[in-house]
Amino acid sequence: MKTWFITGISRGLGRSLAQAALSRGDRVIGTIRDQAPDLHAAPEQLLILKLDMTEATTIIPAVQQAFDWAGRIDIIVNNAGYGLLGPLEQVSDPAMARLFEVDLFGPFRLIRAALPRLRAQGGGHIINITSIAGRAPNPASVLYSSAKYAMEGLSAGLSREVAPLGIKVTAVAPGAFRTDFLSDHSIRRTEGGDDAYAASVGASLGRLGAMAGQQKGDPDRAAQALLSLADAENPPVHLLLGSDAWQRMKVKLTEMEAEMEAWRDVTLSTDFPDQ
Ligand SMILES: NC(=O)c1ccc[n+]([C@@H]2O[C@H](COP(=O)([O-])OP(=O)(O)OC[C@H]3O[C@@H](n4cnc5c(N)ncnc54)[C@H](OP(=O)(O)O)[C@@H]3O)[C@@H](O)[C@H]2O)c1
Repeated sequence: MKTWFITGISRGLGRSLAQAALSRGDRVIGTIRDQAPDLHAAPEQLLILKLDMTEATTIIPAVQQAFDWAGRIDIIVNNAGYGLLGPLEQVSDPAMARLFEVDLFGPFRLIRAALPRLRAQGGGHIINITSIAGRAPNPASVLYSSAKYAMEGLSAGLSREVAPLGIKVTAVAPGAFRTDFLSDHSIRRTEGGDDAYAASVGASLGRLGAMAGQQKGDPDRAAQALLSLADAENPPVHLLLGSDAWQRMKVKLTEMEAEMEAWRDVTLSTDFPDQ
């Protein structure tokens, strides 16, 4: 039996993961803002805590409460998050700041608060739900990509920092999954519009609009994949979820490799001559 701490279990991927973990007999501490999900669980299996990632001071007490209740937490999943769509030049400071509070600073604070407890118990697994947008960005979700890229970097660096302490870290980058993510209940948009961005941002928004409700990814299958990840003896630092994420990353890697090679001479021209 494993114990999970999962943020954002009210709906979507977080809810599916919480239910999958509970269904196999694991224990779950899950966070919500308002709406408690309808989950099938024995009372001693599930603790629901209130946590809003925009309220920084509530994060440390929630982590303390979770460890006090469970004693030991095996897997921490930073799942809560949302997207912000629109051209960069129309994003306001408050909208940008809020996005980073929820998608980056909140998870950072949560991890920082949990690490002493994970060290004390001799290990654990931190799983950060990022996005394919945090590895292969597209127009219209530039700010979301930047927050998720930061979580990718945080995860990759942290995995090396804490490996000697027995703590594992994985950044999980989903493609498009059929949750509320693209619905008005979740996604946020910049104010106003500008025809200047029709070819890039407009086209991307059109594709995302057509995709809403038709995403290829099944959140319940993602939950099963996350259970496998948590059970792995040697989990990866990076994991993609979904065939669309796979394809997008393949293209990105090919482009990166080609660009590196094209600029090889410039790259290698900067060392001191005697090195
Ligand atoms: N679905 C996709 O296509 C997709 C693709 C790539 C990455 N992701 C990532 O996967 C994660 C889960 O998204 P999802 O698809 O399950 O979306 P979702 O259905 O919109 O669920 C989002 C969850 O995050 C919670 N949340 C949002 N803002 C919060 C805040 N300020 N504080 C605390 N919790 C907050 C929501 O709680 P409330 O119910 O209270 O709003 C909800 O539980 C996110 O990190 C997202 O960026 C999703």
